[in-house]
This record gives sequence, C-alpha cells and structure tokens, in this order.
Amino acid sequence: MTQPPPNLRRHDGTVLRADRERLLRQRGAVVWFTGLSGSGKSTVARAVEQLLTDQGHLVYVLDGDNIRHGLCRDLGFGAADRTENIRRIGHVAALFADAGIITLTAFISPFRTDRQQVRDIVGPDFVEVHVDAPLAVCEGRDPKGLYQKARAGQIPDFTGISSPYEPPEQPELRLRTGEQTLAESAAAVRDHLFARGVLTVSASKS
Ligand code: ADX
Repeated sequence: MTQPPPNLRRHDGTVLRADRERLLRQRGAVVWFTGLSGSGKSTVARAVEQLLTDQGHLVYVLDGDNIRHGLCRDLGFGAADRTENIRRIGHVAALFADAGIITLTAFISPFRTDRQQVRDIVGPDFVEVHVDAPLAVCEGRDPKGLYQKARAGQIPDFTGISSPYEPPEQPELRLRTGEQTLAESAAAVRDHLFARGVLTVSASKS
C-alpha cells in the first residue's frame, strides 16, 4: 500500500453510510465479476441488474468497455495499464458501495494481485464472482470477433491468447456460464447476495 498524500486528512459529515443504507433498504456491496472476454460478465451483470431493480433495489453496473471510453481511456492492455485500470475501478466501486449502491463490475481483471488489492480497498462487502467459461467456449462465442483478430496476430496482449488470465482460487461464487442458463446464473448471484444480507437491512437506526 502506498503512503497517504501529505497534508491531507479524511473527513466525514454527520450522514453515515448506514443512514443511506436504511433509506435504500439494502446494503452497499461490490459484486466483482471476473473472467475471460466473452465469458458472460457483462451479460450476467445486466441480468442481475434487471432482476434486483425489478425487486426495488438500487443497482449500478460498471462495465469494462464503457469505462475505457471515459475514466480509463488513456489506458491500454499491457500489464501495468490493466493494473491501473483495476485500481481506478476499485476505488470508484468502493465509493459507490459507500453510497449504499449494489455495484456490479464487469472487467476481465486477469491478475490475482489486482483483485486482491480491490478486495482490500472495498473490505467485507467485496463479492468476487468468477464467470468461468473455458477459453474454447469464449472463443467459440467470440461476440466481438476479437479472438479471431487475436489469433491472426492483430491484437497484442489478448487475454487467454497472448496475455495470461489468473482464475480466482477462492471466489465467493463461481458461475459456469458454458453449462448453466443466464437466468440460473443471475439467480445464483441474487441468492448469494440475499444470504449475505445485502438485500435486506434492519429498519432500526444503528
Ligand atoms: S482488463 O484486463 O483491464 O480488466 P477490461 O475488462 O477493462 O480489461 O477490458 C476488456 C475489453 O476490452 C474486452 O472485453 C475487449 O472487448 C476489449 N479488448 C481490447 N483489447 C483487448 C486485449 N488485448 N485483451 C483483452 N481485451 C481487450
């Protein structure tokens, strides 16, 4: 961990995270989907977003392809840039969770140490979900035609082809999207969040 900048001090108001969570009747959380390109991260995140929104929850999706158009548009796909990408998203996601929002993130986030760093930033409300589809399945889907380009040598450092993916060893949840349906995957995430107490919050002021 780097040292905090000099001459700066954190300060809070009188409204606490617990106050926001009581208003929203939910707990803030970061549901961190990780997996190969084409594994289904964004698709599952969007399905969970719809499911929970329909149940009256405040949910927001941070998605790799979108964030790279703005906040992280200066970053490429070399290892150092991916680490910086995940570091920035980790802090943004932690802020969203502090706002009381159920935050779903869809980034390849291929490196274990980067994901661990986000876990450290977010704390106990970090839920790692491995969207686990074999490379052959992702490549067969190839929704953006990127694997074909990567195989042809047109995209350097492509995850799974010319850049590594380090699968989580102990994710909170593993979704086998090559075998289970989208509805099953989304329901598994919802059930996990319910079991953790993210979808309910005590009405009494703590
Ligand atoms: S991460 O590795 O830094 O987490 P991120 O999730 O933001 O990646 O972006 C991945 C998306 O960028 C992929 O879904 C794909 O559309 C696109 N992309 C472009 N170049 C690459 C590459 N070299 N490796 C992986 N994805 C790439």
